[in-house]
Amino acid sequence: MLWWFILNFVFLLVALPEPSIAPTKVWAHSLSSSELQVFWDPILPSHSKSTISGYEVLLWEEGSLESEAMKERVIRSPAHITGLKGGTLYLISVRAHNSGGVGPASAAINMTTKKPPPSQPPGKIEWNLTNSKIFLQWQQVKAMDNESEVTGYKVMYHQNWHKGTSIVETNQTSLELQVPAGEDLLIQIKALSDGGDGSYSSPIHIPKMSNLNSRGYFSSDANKMVHVHEVAFLMLSWLLL
Ligand SMILES: *[C@@H]1O[C@H](CO)[C@@H](O)[C@H](O)[C@H]1NC(C)=O
Ligand SMILES: *[C@@H]1O[C@H](CO)[C@@H](O)[C@H](O)[C@H]1NC(C)=O
Ligand SMILES: *[C@@H]1O[C@H](CO)[C@@H](O)[C@H](O)[C@H]1NC(C)=O
Ligand SMILES: *[C@@H]1O[C@H](CO)[C@@H](O)[C@H](O)[C@H]1NC(C)=O
Repeated sequence: MLWWFILNFVFLLVALPEPSIAPTKVWAHSLSSSELQVFWDPILPSHSKSTISGYEVLLWEEGSLESEAMKERVIRSPAHITGLKGGTLYLISVRAHNSGGVGPASAAINMTTKKPPPSQPPGKIEWNLTNSKIFLQWQQVKAMDNESEVTGYKVMYHQNWHKGTSIVETNQTSLELQVPAGEDLLIQIKALSDGGDGSYSSPIHIPKMSNLNSRGYFSSDANKMVHVHEVAFLMLSWLLL
């Protein structure tokens, strides 16, 4: 018991007081539908009676309780916050902390995350093959009201299991690829937006290059009849090779 009192007494003597002032000039920058960057001015040692070991960023959704805020600790500004909801207004404040506890929080600022990327992948993908050139064409992805505008497309193609994946970006809805002959190709396309990348279309298999010309068509419509046709068509282009 005595030891406990002595320990507590010693602890009180050496414990730091928590920071006494709040960080200033807090501002945020929206990076995507799930990420924000939060900046602030550091608390200078000459302004603080106690040392500061880091900062805690508090974020809570408009209408929810500050006590339920998500907390992210960093050593210094800026803090990169991930895992947020898209198109959502967040209230944000920052406070300093040390071993003595947390200091006062700055006045809350607010920032809205970008709208999520379009949920629809590019559809109606058509291709044709001439010598070692592939010409790809797809239907424009249209963002809904609750989604970020499309800024371009990313076309990913892999040649086989051993070779790497190549990615080409374009702001058109068509692309010409020069690919080495003698390999099967898998192609996937997704839309890009300020809110982040959309989802990839289902992979399209383009049979290995030949001097013969071929072409194909793929639609993401959930229409079984269309699908059967496509499969038949792809099979046909396979057989032609
Ligand atoms: C967001 O901040 C602006 C000023 O920066 C303020 O006018 C507005 O009322 C704030 N909105 C909310 C919901 O707090
Ligand atoms: C491939 O498709 C594009 C666009 O549909 C067309 O301009 C081009 O002529 C086609 N090439 C061949 C060889 O069919
Ligand atoms: C946008 O709203 C539509 C319904 O209006 C919904 O189907 C879609 O999933 C929403 N998109 C996102 C990214 O939440
Ligand atoms: C498309 O990209 C090219 C360069 O990659 C750029 O010069 C052009 O301005 C872009 N067009 C649009 C509409 O963004």
